[in-house]
Amino acid sequence: MSTPVIAIAQAHEYVGQVVTLRGWVYAKTGKGKLHFIRLRDGTGQIQCVAFKGDLPDEQFEQAQHLTQESSVIISGTVRQDERAPGIPGGYEIGVSSLQVIQLTHDYPITPKEHGTDFLMDNRHLWIRSNRQWAILRIRATIVKTMRDWLDDHGFLLVDTPIITPAAGEETTTLFEIDYFGESAYLAQTGQLYNEANMAAFGKVYCFGPTFRAEKSKTRRHLIEFWMLEPEIAFCSLEELMDVEEGLQRAIVERVLDKHRAELTLIERDISKLEAVVNSGAFARISYDEAIRRLQALAEQTEDPEQKNLLSIVWGDDLGSPHETALAEMFSTPVFVYHYPSAIKAFYMQPVEGRPEVCRSVDLLAPEGYGEICGGSERIWDEQVLLAKLAHDKLPVENYQWYLELRRFGSVPHAGFGQGVERTVAWICGLPHVRETIPYPRLLNRKYP
Ligand code: 4AD
Ligand code: MG
Repeated sequence: MSTPVIAIAQAHEYVGQVVTLRGWVYAKTGKGKLHFIRLRDGTGQIQCVAFKGDLPDEQFEQAQHLTQESSVIISGTVRQDERAPGIPGGYEIGVSSLQVIQLTHDYPITPKEHGTDFLMDNRHLWIRSNRQWAILRIRATIVKTMRDWLDDHGFLLVDTPIITPAAGEETTTLFEIDYFGESAYLAQTGQLYNEANMAAFGKVYCFGPTFRAEKSKTRRHLIEFWMLEPEIAFCSLEELMDVEEGLQRAIVERVLDKHRAELTLIERDISKLEAVVNSGAFARISYDEAIRRLQALAEQTEDPEQKNLLSIVWGDDLGSPHETALAEMFSTPVFVYHYPSAIKAFYMQPVEGRPEVCRSVDLLAPEGYGEICGGSERIWDEQVLLAKLAHDKLPVENYQWYLELRRFGSVPHAGFGQGVERTVAWICGLPHVRETIPYPRLLNRKYP
């Protein structure tokens, strides 16, 4: 009778039984009659114990010479043993047969320390490493939670195009492509189409890759990133913040629930995440108040360098040191709303009676991970929108269909975009976004 082929993550269900596992050698130790093979299969890692005499001699011989990342099929008995290392650990395999699929020679990534550039050049292999494995699994759960939560709250997924005829955000970061002799651009956002879809379906979202030809080399900017963008009819800025807050709580709760092992592996301070779900409502402050708080902080700061970094006047955009300083004032994420219109996108609704600020809101992650969501109420009056397009020198002819949305049953509406990579950086506690996406596209990197 053949043994069941199982995943390492299922091992706990098979204690005392003989099973077959298929995967790769993460590490091998031991000598003489006893060899420990750390096997990984993508679902976890388990220690396989090869003891001379328990398996045919020529197979034991092969076990002795196994190398890192060799591919193998192993059969043996599952044993429960608290001390057994692994992910999640606590189980091991008493090996009774070993089949080598390919013996690997000179695997470039060894347990020793490597430089970032070397690892990034070997990203196609680096993703096999423990830390990267943990991060990318958490990423998948974050994406799934985003979609599940919206699906469960009455939103419809409606896809938006990647190739677009006009800018959705600043014209300075457009990726131009040749569209059969005409100019087209890679989508910076799905928002404008979301607004059309909102009028057809009420509550919608799109989820996909977005592109910004941004010549900045910060820890938070990617050239290609994934964005979740909900858009809601008859929605105010306050209601939008409620939606954003509910979604963030769901994400943190789900990751805490499902990924203790991964969070431990990457040494994330879990108490910081627990604080987000256990403390009350997220803080909500206006841009005006943010500026006042930052100026007061700068005033009190004695270190001249820090003082200089924090200095800000009304009208300036918040830089990374400002976002970090604001985040440190709260244990939850913090909403900053009503930014100056001059530093925000053309489509944002001006505040009534005070058009120099707009009905916009950014959500800043705790601990200095920066802006994770950007959103606003949208201009829904055609004349106001026309004036704004002219003011921002955008070609009106490209926005005819967008203007039409303001002519046929226009309604107040609002939406936001949440960057997946910034969210992963926050949840996983990563200083740089490059490890938050399988194959990062950065200013100086498009390989592999
Ligand atoms: O604030 P942004 O530019 O907003 C928009 O694109 C809106 N049209 C979204 C909407 O209202 N539907 O981007 C939204 C989020 C940011 O908060 C950030 O998390 C992420 O997208 N983001 C980036 N992430 C990585 N690299 C970049 N270059 C990013 N630019 C924005
Ligand atoms: Mg933004």
